[in-house]
Amino acid sequence: MSLTKIEQLFKAKLALLQQQGISKGNEKIITGRKAAIDGFGPRYFLDGYRDQAFLRMNSNSYLGLTEHPQLIQAEAEAVERFGTGPGAVRFISGTYQSHVELEKKLAQFHGRDAAMIMSAAYATMIGVLPQFISDETLVVSDALNHNCIINAIRLAHPVRKEVYAHADMKALDHILAANKGQVRRVCVVTDGIFSMRGDHASLDQINSCCQRHEAGYEEGIITVVDDSHGVGAFGQTGRGTEEYCGGKADILIATLGKAFGVNGGYVAASSVVIAYLRETAPLYIYSNPITPAEAAAAIAALDIVDSQEGLGLLEKLRSLSERLRTGLERLDFETLSGEHPIVPILVRDTEKTSALVSHLFAHQILATGLNYPVVPKGGQEIRLQVSAEHTEKDVDYLLSVLAKFNR
Ligand SMILES: Cc1ncc(COP(=O)(O)O)c(C=O)c1O
Repeated sequence: MSLTKIEQLFKAKLALLQQQGISKGNEKIITGRKAAIDGFGPRYFLDGYRDQAFLRMNSNSYLGLTEHPQLIQAEAEAVERFGTGPGAVRFISGTYQSHVELEKKLAQFHGRDAAMIMSAAYATMIGVLPQFISDETLVVSDALNHNCIINAIRLAHPVRKEVYAHADMKALDHILAANKGQVRRVCVVTDGIFSMRGDHASLDQINSCCQRHEAGYEEGIITVVDDSHGVGAFGQTGRGTEEYCGGKADILIATLGKAFGVNGGYVAASSVVIAYLRETAPLYIYSNPITPAEAAAAIAALDIVDSQEGLGLLEKLRSLSERLRTGLERLDFETLSGEHPIVPILVRDTEKTSALVSHLFAHQILATGLNYPVVPKGGQEIRLQVSAEHTEKDVDYLLSVLAKFNR
């Protein structure tokens, strides 16, 4: 037995990624954080870049809650009380008071009967989606859905999969009309906020389209929405795409690791569905939950989002995102309209995307370039992510650096 042959294959693939300019390369290591000062938000230190402090425009911590004293205190107290890890999966002896409390709060937050937490949103999608897909189910999926949805569908082996062009409601309608009588059940699955672009699925339109066709399917049409980038960051009170569009998913999946500033994933639905998932979803049954302390921190995050402070943070996030979008348009960068704190610069070229990322880095700004195959060819972009921990001065600094880029 030896790894020699497989390693040769791997080396060739790694070299190809580098040659194509799409390798992710060495990860940057955060070694410290400098608190906000002089009207600027916090800065981050990186291993190998002594004395330079970076503005982080590529964090999912949209409300800046990862450093919030209430979350830190809640997590620290829960560590003291419960220890560092759950020590078992949920049904053995890994269910702690904070897990159950968090599930109740999440259900309330989303106006559902019940919720169930898992180790990550990715794991939630992989664990949950296949439970709704039989071998007589058609799955209908948006072309820009997140990788976790694509892999969950692969795992589920539906009888058929149809992918509609991004946000194309006519195409969805056509698929639902055309498949009547051919499958017993349909599962329509979409991101709420699309993670690469910050635009959103029109959940109201998806729902009315599904309602129009529901009677044509013996076991109905089920909508599954992953709103990992939407919850806590979008909608007047942070309820995400559902709140913004005024339409509810049958099954809502989201993360605790972005706007809520902690870690973990969850699904919110009816009591029957959640009871069924606790008995059947393998990544719930056979894999540890988040730590009791993480659950305690997430409870604190929900409390903040649902307070005056939370409303203020959401308002600030909207206003900074708007400032950035307007500034980009003024500088003639192509971006997308919207209210979400993901603000893309559509560069549409791999080399130029890399050059712009390097330019920003040289000016102590961390931003992520997204190249094929993460985004479709021609959709190469820089994804800028605004956070409530940023300030107007931060956004203006970013815009001044972008203005200096030689295009
Ligand atoms: C739509 C979507 N779903 C799931 C995830 C994964 O979230 P988690 O880190 O909780 O697994 C992401 C993260 O990028 C995402 O954008």
